[in-house]
Amino acid sequence: MRHKIIAGNWKMHKNAQETGSFLNDLINEMPEEKEVEVIIAPAFTNLMLATQILEDTNVAVAAQNMHQAEGGAFTGEISADMLTSIGVQTVILGHSERRQYFKETPALLANKVDTALRHKMRVIFCVGEELKDRKSKQFQNVVFYQLKDSLFHLPKEAWENIVIAYEPVWAIGTGETATPEQAQEMHQFIREQVAHQYGDLANNVTILYGGSVKPDNAQTIFSQPDVDGGLIGGAALNVGDFTAIISAI
Ligand code: PGA
Repeated sequence: MRHKIIAGNWKMHKNAQETGSFLNDLINEMPEEKEVEVIIAPAFTNLMLATQILEDTNVAVAAQNMHQAEGGAFTGEISADMLTSIGVQTVILGHSERRQYFKETPALLANKVDTALRHKMRVIFCVGEELKDRKSKQFQNVVFYQLKDSLFHLPKEAWENIVIAYEPVWAIGTGETATPEQAQEMHQFIREQVAHQYGDLANNVTILYGGSVKPDNAQTIFSQPDVDGGLIGGAALNVGDFTAIISAI
């Protein structure tokens, strides 16, 4: 169901002590009465700690990645079953850093999405164009194929557990954000493509914006009609900034 989400993607930041102290501070400083779901995605090693600290709170825990196989000889990898067995029900897939540095392809990502859904997990699926695609006006085309190649094979029912995050690669960690108009244009485009493929359920899909969201630009981005919240990197590492972004929605 479409709703407001603010998710923090910590990437390869914060050890166990830092994770514990951030989450305890977050619980204390969390804005009240907000109709928004808050999610934190710490490193694998801190997922269990995070689920324990956040057990009786409204903050959910997500993994930043997972392997597509059920199990087996895949040294260093983490399965869906391992995640759900410690209470992690949400996974981020298709982040541009996974695509770029770890060569995750659309077909591989389709496989990971299928595995996650088989385990009744919710997927935050990232799409977004590179700067060259924006300059050559291919940005919608690129995002269309990212959706088509990894998500459009899914049956209608599966969409209940899909959240899309639009993250223009040129805006990630660069301090440069998409303008609210650019974000709205792409979010609307994404919703239209889902509608074209699946009909009305597109109105129920939550679409997050990610890419240099900060306390001072969050409100104008979140006020766009097709923007349902944010996937926050850098600004999710600081409790004050993160809670300010939650308040901005
Ligand atoms: P950023 O990262 O907020 O630091 O740009 C966003 C992301 O990669 O999800």
